[in-house]
Amino acid sequence: MRGSVAVYPGTFDPITNGHLSVVNRALKIFDKLIIAILTNPQKTPLFTLDERKYMIKESLKGKSNIEIDDFGGLLVDYVVKKKSNVILRGLRALSDFEYEFQMALMNRKLNREVQSIFLMTDYKWFYTSSTIIKEAASLGGEISGLVPPIACRKLKEKYGY
Ligand code: PNS
Repeated sequence: MRGSVAVYPGTFDPITNGHLSVVNRALKIFDKLIIAILTNPQKTPLFTLDERKYMIKESLKGKSNIEIDDFGGLLVDYVVKKKSNVILRGLRALSDFEYEFQMALMNRKLNREVQSIFLMTDYKWFYTSSTIIKEAASLGGEISGLVPPIACRKLKEKYGY
């Protein structure tokens, strides 16, 4: 897709190998990817916005055509502001479908020019999520291999082990 820009929105609290798998796939399709961190999520994130940005930046060092940004308010408005018309979301097994379907239809209702596109994460990450990884880490579980090394370090720091 020549000249195409996709926005990959999320909480990224923290970035996981599942997210990275989606980013790497997307870079083979789109010319530019904007990773957009939501600044006003309903639940309080474990990591600050700066920490989350830093971990994403470190995990994607050396990769070009990526912008790391943050947004508040409606996602479709942000997508238009960034001169894109694509929302990219990752899909794991069945668990994501209902939520993603609902969100895609709501975004379509809000702006019909913006298209939602889904890429599967690698099967290795089907069972992982930032939430379940944080839960394991908070209880002292070994989470290396599920998140990039910088996120592993930061999680261990946060939970003091
Ligand atoms: O990583 P997450 O938490 O699944 O990401 C959710 C996100 C950021 C994509 C979603 O909460 C979002 O788009 N929020 C922005 C507010 C918005 O536009 N809501 C209306 C459409 S559902």
